[in-house]
Amino acid sequence: MPKRSKPEEVEKKDGDFDDESFTEDFETGKTENVGEETSESVLPKIDAAASVGKSVDLEDIPGVGKKIAEKLAEVGYTDLMTIAVTSPVELATIAEIGEGQARKIINSVREMLQIGFESADKIMERKLAAIKIKTGVESLDKLLGGGVETQAITEAYGQFASGKSQLGFQLAVNVQLPKEQGGLGKNCLFIDTENTFAPSRIVSVAKARGMDPDQVLKNIFVARAFNSEHQIFLVEKAAELIEEKNIGLIIIDSLTSHFRADYVGRGELAGRQQKLNKHLHALQRLADGHNLAVYITNQVMARPDMLFGDPTAPVGGHILAHLSTYRMYLRKGKAGTRVCRLMDAANLPETEAIFKITEDGLKDAEK
Ligand SMILES: Nc1ncnc2c1ncn2[C@@H]1O[C@H](COP(=O)(O)OP(=O)(O)OP(=O)(O)O)[C@@H](O)[C@H]1O
Ligand SMILES: [Mg+2]
Repeated sequence: MPKRSKPEEVEKKDGDFDDESFTEDFETGKTENVGEETSESVLPKIDAAASVGKSVDLEDIPGVGKKIAEKLAEVGYTDLMTIAVTSPVELATIAEIGEGQARKIINSVREMLQIGFESADKIMERKLAAIKIKTGVESLDKLLGGGVETQAITEAYGQFASGKSQLGFQLAVNVQLPKEQGGLGKNCLFIDTENTFAPSRIVSVAKARGMDPDQVLKNIFVARAFNSEHQIFLVEKAAELIEEKNIGLIIIDSLTSHFRADYVGRGELAGRQQKLNKHLHALQRLADGHNLAVYITNQVMARPDMLFGDPTAPVGGHILAHLSTYRMYLRKGKAGTRVCRLMDAANLPETEAIFKITEDGLKDAEK
């Protein structure tokens, strides 16, 4: 348990909490200011979904002075949602303040954020705002119900050379097309974990679409992730870039390779899954908060125990299966084709699409 810091360590400013003027209802977690006015009435209300990843001036939060703000910023706690979901113990440790004060700060932020239950029509409304990036392969678009959807995580898993990265490159180009042509008219953030990002493929695909390849390359923001922690960090940092660079698609190629390498052995499985779970939630929050699409690739591992059928299974286990909205299984087909099967999608039938990889990108295979 972190020690409560001495009063002189906590810098106060106007609007800071005065410890004595608060009572706390631990049942509801609500903080009530018994002073002249309630904090609720003066706090600005901010839409929770829209606040995700947006850095704010932390000193605007009641109870947060310059020193605390600096400590929070040091660890990247610069948006309201991050603070709202932090535990008092964690916040107290980071900001070197008492747990009571940490709880008050969290409660203020929660009051500022309009979180709560949503009526189903609101959810419907948001879902209707979801748009799709066309893959450029008709049969694949059909399979996906129109293309790669915003507010969702689309995963492609399969063996080496099955086309996972190629589809990523193609989407990185297509997202830049105007809406009438199946794009979002937005840019791409590409997290490359295997050092396989191929600008030459982007150029070919862009040229085939009559786009200016130099401009298309400029609109793809590539970050190399060196290990799983770095990958997590890049996603946490992505929020700022998303607004600044008008990002409509985030690609992680591959999502799982670092996690696989960094957490070896059975004993580390739980830790790995926990990190992966958090990482995927962060991605989903970005997808929801910015109405953008997320495309991730994933390897398969051999399953020698399986005698019949396809002896391969995606890495990542149940967590990935659960958190990917759309799962595509890619495999090599006859005569150099690739076959895509959509796995366990809630609202789409499990069918197959057949395509080929050409110099100009992915195309429908001739019937
Ligand atoms: N210019 C091109 N013209 C035609 N086919 C190409 C071209 N570039 C790549 N390919 C095809 O794409 C395949 C590689 O696909 P991709 O890189 O998407 O594999 P992957 O599924 O990402 O594999 P890995 O698991 O190794 O990352 C190559 O084997 C080749 O068949
Ligand atoms: Mg690849």
